[in-house]
Amino acid sequence: MDVVVTVPAIWSNNAKQETENAASLAGFGGEKKIKLISEPEAAALYTVKYLSPSVLQTGRRFLVCDAGGGTVDLITYEVAKVQPLQMREVTEGTGGKCGSSMLNMRFRRYLKQAHGDKYWTDERLVIALNDFESFKKDFSPRGEPLTLKVDPSLGLRRNRFTIPQDDMRIKIWDPIMKDIICLINEQISMADDEVAAVVLVGGFGQNRYLKARVREAIIPGVRVLQPENGVTAVVKGAVIYGLGNYQPAMAPVGIASRVARRSYGTCLLARYDPSKHDRNEA
Ligand SMILES: Nc1ncnc2c1ncn2[C@@H]1O[C@H](COP(=O)(O)OP(=O)(O)OP(=O)(O)O)[C@@H](O)[C@H]1O
Ligand SMILES: [Mg+2]
Repeated sequence: MDVVVTVPAIWSNNAKQETENAASLAGFGGEKKIKLISEPEAAALYTVKYLSPSVLQTGRRFLVCDAGGGTVDLITYEVAKVQPLQMREVTEGTGGKCGSSMLNMRFRRYLKQAHGDKYWTDERLVIALNDFESFKKDFSPRGEPLTLKVDPSLGLRRNRFTIPQDDMRIKIWDPIMKDIICLINEQISMADDEVAAVVLVGGFGQNRYLKARVREAIIPGVRVLQPENGVTAVVKGAVIYGLGNYQPAMAPVGIASRVARRSYGTCLLARYDPSKHDRNEA
């Protein structure tokens, strides 16, 4: 059995090596082979089957945005060949720490600013964050506001604390939306503004408000897609990759080329500098 471990696109070589070591220590090494794959690449391998024939044409580019709990990872591919389907990387993966848990962090901060650290004990926060977890999945600025049940000691009407939708949008959601849109626009310009579709995957990638905000913020004509089962795109893509290593026919898509993350060179000629170089070698 082979083991495929997924890693965020922005991880350093050191972090990847550490992950491989950890997988090995956890018992996934030895007889079994460990393979690493970047998360947006895995997501792209799975997602490609959800792209319409108009996007799946040679030369067409699409951006995969994997928005999860901690990070948002992005990468852009071009269709290199249609039969059999081959993609090539157009950009290096980019990303940032603006995943869904950053909404929770802002929400927590908002509560503490409203009623102080003393009131928001860990136990109360756990309950409030639980309510927020369900609320955020269907958040819409035009929807019902979030109302939390609070202690009578706060003296609020009917012991309820309602967070105004404007606060929810401006203080909690919009700063995160801005960061994600910025990352998407950066990828689009790295791909010379020639992206046909942005594919949102990952748990946060399923969010309707995120889709609406991305759609209005990017260049017109670029489609914004949320494929079915986008939450599990990374793990399913990892399986496709693992199978493809055994039997190319089992993987419906292959990666024709990747963008080199590093290059190495040796200096052959240097201008003579008496303070640095040996006189006899000049
Ligand atoms: N509809 C939604 N709207 C906003 N957030 C959501 C939604 N559905 C799930 N989430 C959040 O998505 C996260 C889980 O998504 P996912 O499984 O992609 O993350 P992950 O892969 O564990 O994180 P990372 O990729 O950062 O390591 C959780 O933080 C969850 O609260
Ligand atoms: Mg993830």
